[in-house]
Amino acid sequence: MNIYDVIIVGSGIAGLNASALFDKSKKVLVLCKDNSWNCNTFYAQGGVAVALDEEDINLHIQDTISAGDGLCDKEAVEILCKDGFKEIQNWIKRGFEFDRDKDGKLLYTKEAAHSKNRILHAGGDATGRYMHLFLMRENQNTLLYKSTVTDLLIEDDICYGVRVSHLGEIKNFYAKSVIIATGGIGSLYEYHTNSKSISADLHGICITKGIKLRDMEMLQFHPTAYIHNRGARKQLLSEALRGEGAYIVDENGKRFLFDYDKRAELSPRNIVAQAIYDYRQKTNLEIYLNFDNFTKEFFKKRFPTIYFNLKDLGFNLPDDNVPISPAFHYAMGGIETDLNAKVKGFKNLYAIGEVASTRVHGANRLASNSLLEGIVFSKRAVDDIESKTFDFKIKEFSKNEDILIKDGDKELKHQLRVLMWKNAGIIRSYEGLKSTLEWIDDKLDQKRGKLLKLRLLTSKEIIKSALKRKKSLGAHYMI
Ligand code: SIN
Repeated sequence: MNIYDVIIVGSGIAGLNASALFDKSKKVLVLCKDNSWNCNTFYAQGGVAVALDEEDINLHIQDTISAGDGLCDKEAVEILCKDGFKEIQNWIKRGFEFDRDKDGKLLYTKEAAHSKNRILHAGGDATGRYMHLFLMRENQNTLLYKSTVTDLLIEDDICYGVRVSHLGEIKNFYAKSVIIATGGIGSLYEYHTNSKSISADLHGICITKGIKLRDMEMLQFHPTAYIHNRGARKQLLSEALRGEGAYIVDENGKRFLFDYDKRAELSPRNIVAQAIYDYRQKTNLEIYLNFDNFTKEFFKKRFPTIYFNLKDLGFNLPDDNVPISPAFHYAMGGIETDLNAKVKGFKNLYAIGEVASTRVHGANRLASNSLLEGIVFSKRAVDDIESKTFDFKIKEFSKNEDILIKDGDKELKHQLRVLMWKNAGIIRSYEGLKSTLEWIDDKLDQKRGKLLKLRLLTSKEIIKSALKRKKSLGAHYMI
């Protein structure tokens, strides 16, 4: 039997930071759906938001709460900003190198809805990739690649482990504690900026187990993605570009965002995304990111990943305007946990990072608070688990599993993505949500593969939550 102290599902910042923090005597297994770098952390560009000093913590709290539009849990936000300040200092002590100026002073950039420049970054616009690499270098636990979790082994509200499909074989892995750190729901949407492995399987499994998901209608659409590249993951054009002076213009060069909010490019993310969508619907004009304020040298040095990705796509920067569209980016809702990351109502089960809902982001996440969330709440989960003595009795579960993929599932997956983008996207209507719900219910009645069923269940939950919230709030915009 495969028995561990802790199983961590997911290898983004939350999962790998938890793995790094456990006492070395613990037997820890990290499950990766694909390889370790197929996670959202790897693609995070902008940076990590953190208070500049003790005095700035309160303002970071206020900015987070005001972007969250009334739905944040104040205590959760206080933990994020206070613990986050300490944890980033610990990362620096652990040897992580954020970008610094020539005198060795940390460089902070600006992103929307922050009242100060408080975003640390690394490798210019490769913050997530650098943090992921750092954690992979620190990691001393076993990582099992190509492992899709197909079920949680739960009886009487106690979690005993996970069922996994590994290279075509079904296996059960048992543990005293299971931590879910699988990220959000990107693959449910036609246009998204997420890693291809992010497909909401665990959200779906939670629904089948009666585990509560919360605020699932609160989905963040990043305003500036380049969506014409091949592949499901669309090219993110970091908010930090706007923080450093890039403008959003229509094809006539007009900075139309002023018609929506005086903060223009630096309005909260939901406002910019909704404005772009609305303006395009009304005018039929193409929307661009404009880099007239950048020199070539600055662009290359400050945003090397974006510069070279766009160059490969044929853009001559900074002279060319780049066409943009909003794209799904981040799920604010998720598995309801307490402030120590414990899944409510279940024993030995934790959720951290984007997959969890502590209400730290409310109805609209403040830019660059998510890497910080992964760091802070993974630490709290580890501390909680380390503080316990376990009287753990193994319970063996069958390895019977439903068929995971059936013929025709792929086409339906695509249709689901298109419908979710159109009807449960940036701007939603009662009719659009209702018709998508009916489509989903029809597909759930058919005999489909389990992985598609899990996506359908999560999508249904998003729509049900959206239908329940009749008035617009934050990222949830109803017409
Ligand atoms: C970005 O670089 O714009 C993304 C940062 C974030 O999602 O917080």
